[in-house]
Amino acid sequence: MSKWWRHGTIYQIYPRSFQDSDGDGIGDLRGIRRRIPYLAGLGVNAIWLSPIFQSPMADFGYDISDYRAIDPIFGDMADFDRLLEEAHDAGLKLLLDFVPNHTSDQHAWFLESRSSRDNPKRDWYIWCDPAPDGGPPNNWISNFGGPAWTLDEATGQYYYHAFLKQQPDLNWRNPELRRAMLDTLRFWLDKGVDGFRVDVIWHLIKDDKFRDNPPNPFYRPGQPDIDRNLQVHSADQEEVHEVIAEMRSVIDSYPERLLIGEIYLPVEKLMTYYGRSGEGVHLPFNFQLIQSPWQADALAKLIDDYEAALPEDGWPNWVLSNHDQPRIAARVGAAQARVATMLLLTLRGTPTLYYGDELAIGKVEIPPERIRDPWAANEPSAAFLRDSSRTPMQWDGSEHAGFSQSEPWLPLSGDWQQRNVDAAAADSDSMLAFTRKLLELRQKEDILQEGSYSLLFSRGSVLAFERKLEGEVIGVVLNLSAEPTEVDLPPQLAAGKLLIAAQDADAPQELARTVTLAGDQGLVIRAAKEEIRS
Ligand code: GLC
Ligand code: MG
Repeated sequence: MSKWWRHGTIYQIYPRSFQDSDGDGIGDLRGIRRRIPYLAGLGVNAIWLSPIFQSPMADFGYDISDYRAIDPIFGDMADFDRLLEEAHDAGLKLLLDFVPNHTSDQHAWFLESRSSRDNPKRDWYIWCDPAPDGGPPNNWISNFGGPAWTLDEATGQYYYHAFLKQQPDLNWRNPELRRAMLDTLRFWLDKGVDGFRVDVIWHLIKDDKFRDNPPNPFYRPGQPDIDRNLQVHSADQEEVHEVIAEMRSVIDSYPERLLIGEIYLPVEKLMTYYGRSGEGVHLPFNFQLIQSPWQADALAKLIDDYEAALPEDGWPNWVLSNHDQPRIAARVGAAQARVATMLLLTLRGTPTLYYGDELAIGKVEIPPERIRDPWAANEPSAAFLRDSSRTPMQWDGSEHAGFSQSEPWLPLSGDWQQRNVDAAAADSDSMLAFTRKLLELRQKEDILQEGSYSLLFSRGSVLAFERKLEGEVIGVVLNLSAEPTEVDLPPQLAAGKLLIAAQDADAPQELARTVTLAGDQGLVIRAAKEEIRS
């Protein structure tokens, strides 16, 4: 249990929206630096920054034109070096976002690659001849809608892009490209970054014959375009695991670094990304809490299935929201978001907390003229509005919520004047105070870090489980509904001590065999030590 990331909590920052320092309405590195004391005080252990590299910003930094430069919007390399140093001084690890599947179409490599068919970098990207009718080489669809192939008129071939046409996919079958990309990892590791979250890692290798994807028999109109086909040949190919093993060996040549993979796949597939004997990523992001109905039985089953599917040395991890998904409070409401956060921070495995979720920022309405996400422009009806989850952090009650001196690039949540860090810090019952308490408890309780997980029961709206280490037990009892309900506690918990309640005002005065759980209530209980017979 020495590895920091096994007992730490990761905090995701979307840099455009965390803190602006130069008044352009867009967050930046100096802004993040200013908020290091906040992050250290919150009790998280690592920050992961969504991309900060040079980019035309077609997909807000997920289209990189230079992997080794900081985009001027965010600052410069000196700003980065200071951020890294100050984060480390504050005891925080720093993770970067590595986007190896595609570059920007403005990357020098792509400009070369498209310049002629026999350019030495031609094969660094994925070029194919047109189909006999002149159309795209196969039926692959972009994740942002429409064909995944764009014709380059000048050279008469199509290039593949799993996302925007401004994001051409790299060819990871090419050994030179591979070397160049692994060197990029070394560049940042040499600077001392603590690891990477790897963007769409399951996409890196595609079928070498570029076979058509089969149609999805369950597709219903209204779903995103990409769901028309099953992604059988365009992603999750066996050879991707070799590539990941190479990344992992670079990571492992430095002490204590972490490799996380962004992977949206069913659980059996997800598990293969740990590698056959641990040569995969340390943490394949587990998004199941995001995808599951918010019901006790469904959650109980998915947690059990996930625990059971983990390889022997595979360390679990959990995510509730991110910059691509609805915020947790937008999905289940602010009161239930406490229960969700209690779940996230008491499950076995590394939690990733999304900035602003500690304030329970909810659904932010984005007026049509302020929509920025390129996916929304492509697929207005099908796209979930990612902008809504990317709005600025709310620091205080001053103009623009203390985020910026000027109008932020995306609107603030409507209730920012009440829902901000300043206001929350003054309220011992706030979501912020509650999140801090949970993080503090997790930090000091080995049981929560290392203890085993077992389901106690799921009954009606209640999910109850225990964490156990060397005979010591912490129980967690969650009411996933807004309706109050009665619950029978096992004897050890009934005789235990309440550590944290999600709704303090409604917490049971005393624990007993039968307690009433208020709506949206959650209890973390230290079980009585001695074995108690019922
Ligand atoms: C990942 C990112 C998402 C981005 C996409 C393309 O899914 O999380 O924000 O748009 O990859 O890079
Ligand atoms: Mg700025």
